[in-house]
Amino acid sequence: MLQKISMDQDNFLSIWKNLASKVDTHLSTCLQPQDGMPVRLLEAMRYSVLAPGKRLRPILVLLASNAFGFENTNPWPAACAVEFIHAYSLIHDDLPAMDDDDLRRGRPTCHKVYGEALAILAGDALLTKAFEVLAKSYPALAGAECCLELAKGAGASGMVGGQVEDLAWEGKPGVRGEDHPKEPTVKHLKNLHDRKTGALIRSSLKLGAIVSFASQNRKPPEDLLQILDNYGQNIGLAFQVTDDLLDVLGKCESAGKRVGKDAQKGKLTYPGLLGIEQSKLLAGELCKNAQHLASQLGPNAAPLMDLADYLVSRDH
Ligand code: IPE
Ligand code: IPE
Ligand code: MG
Ligand code: MG
Ligand code: MG
Repeated sequence: MLQKISMDQDNFLSIWKNLASKVDTHLSTCLQPQDGMPVRLLEAMRYSVLAPGKRLRPILVLLASNAFGFENTNPWPAACAVEFIHAYSLIHDDLPAMDDDDLRRGRPTCHKVYGEALAILAGDALLTKAFEVLAKSYPALAGAECCLELAKGAGASGMVGGQVEDLAWEGKPGVRGEDHPKEPTVKHLKNLHDRKTGALIRSSLKLGAIVSFASQNRKPPEDLLQILDNYGQNIGLAFQVTDDLLDVLGKCESAGKRVGKDAQKGKLTYPGLLGIEQSKLLAGELCKNAQHLASQLGPNAAPLMDLADYLVSRDH
């Protein structure tokens, strides 16, 4: 199926929808009752994961693995793993102690439906599930490489570290360390976005490469990983700049989440620091950089170029 992705097929959005619906099937298959798993916990996990998200991170795994054109690649467990991490991060991000949101993917947030305690635990279970799926689905070495890459992207130096910075700049009591700078600069903002959003995006792309080369019993060459990583850095930042812009310019109905909350909470964002026009220009520039990098990966990587365009023109 994946080998058929190419520029001259249907337009990119229909490719995206098609992949997203296959991802949904795999996500659902992964989230089935297991011995000892409380029914209500599984319900909460399925409620959040299977809600209509864009599936960006799994699609990055699929497109990156497809870029190398190896037959017999199985990208699905890695695709599910990154979405489990993402879904957990959204459940926790929406909690009253963090962004305190009541709407996600057009539906009430997990804690609004299942209560805070079960929402926290559903997040914990999804975080753990991601590593279980990787460890049991790939040969030992590739599985361990995937786990390491995902742990780096999702953990204290990656996504979680970025979430801490996000709350620190917002002024959340107890989060900011003594040595934390007082006045934000563009460098601080970029660093925050690179971690809270970019890190998991970069890991998703690299997981795609790892599982693709694993099908040949090889590790991906460093230079290819570096191109994917640079591409991920550019789309990751473009994606979060666009998320910040949607909070200012978007509509709740299309975004599926509340808008206008960042300024209200005093979040450090691109439109807040640079203004709307500069933020749009930056997103466009990052998208062009990303396309240039994707072009170095050869013709099978063409969908990664379309994806960069989509990410900055989206309305949700
Ligand atoms: C929302 O991510 C949180 C951010 C990192 C900006 P997405 O915009 O990918 O959310 P879903 O998965 O489509 O709901
Ligand atoms: C969330 O960023 C990033 C993660 C969940 C890691 P935001 O707080 O900006 O995401 P939204 O706007 O609530 O989707
Ligand atoms: Mg947040
Ligand atoms: Mg939020
Ligand atoms: Mg946001």
